[in-house]
Amino acid sequence: MILKMSGVRVKVMIASLALIPIAAFGCTASEPPAPAQMTQADMEKRGDYLVNSMGCGDCHTPMKMGANGPEPDMDRFLSGQPAGEELPPPPAPSGPWIVSVSGTGTAWSGPWGVSYTQNITPDMETGIGNYTEEQFLMTIREGKKQGRGRDLLPPMPWPVFKNLTDDDLKSIYAYLRTIKPINNRVPDPVIAPMK
Ligand code: HEC
Repeated sequence: MILKMSGVRVKVMIASLALIPIAAFGCTASEPPAPAQMTQADMEKRGDYLVNSMGCGDCHTPMKMGANGPEPDMDRFLSGQPAGEELPPPPAPSGPWIVSVSGTGTAWSGPWGVSYTQNITPDMETGIGNYTEEQFLMTIREGKKQGRGRDLLPPMPWPVFKNLTDDDLKSIYAYLRTIKPINNRVPDPVIAPMK
């Protein structure tokens, strides 16, 4: 039996055999309350909390230089690697230092090649505005672009985010549809040849 409480699934084992006859006679007294249905507003609120505590912006929001060092440029919230930013070729991975990251924190180089954090604002052309909820869930669960394209490259942490519940992923999706759409076409990654 599964009880849903504020997005957390709690498995409840009915330990007492004494409850079985009650259930068999159709008495509903021992049944758990129906899971609370989140409204659209609840989902957006939970998505806001998840996105802004799970560090999506650490990678997806370009950094700018502030008085105390790099800080997220909130005018470009979650819009990914800025289009047109000229970057020199990345250093070759060598020795124990294998990953390099650009000053904006949105371009990553490693053994997999060069990846750029994606525009996850709801812009229809360059963001994920045209993703259905199902495609968004598949993207995170399967680690594939729009849920069905090429494999997502590191360091997108989909191998751990895929463990989120459906409700949490749907909440993230719901929130991401409420943020400002930003038109920013992220460059294609450079996928390193297999060694
Ligand atoms: C450690 C850095 C990092 C973090 C943290 C991160 N991402 Fe990503 N994300 C990336 C990179 C890099 C890519 C691009 C991968 C590629 O192009 O293959 C990406 C791609 C994506 C995509 C795929 C978009 C597409 O083109 O289909 C989605 C969706 C996404 N991230 C959502 C999120 C969400 C939501 C969070 C927070 C819960 C998050 N990311 C946190 C680095 C990160």
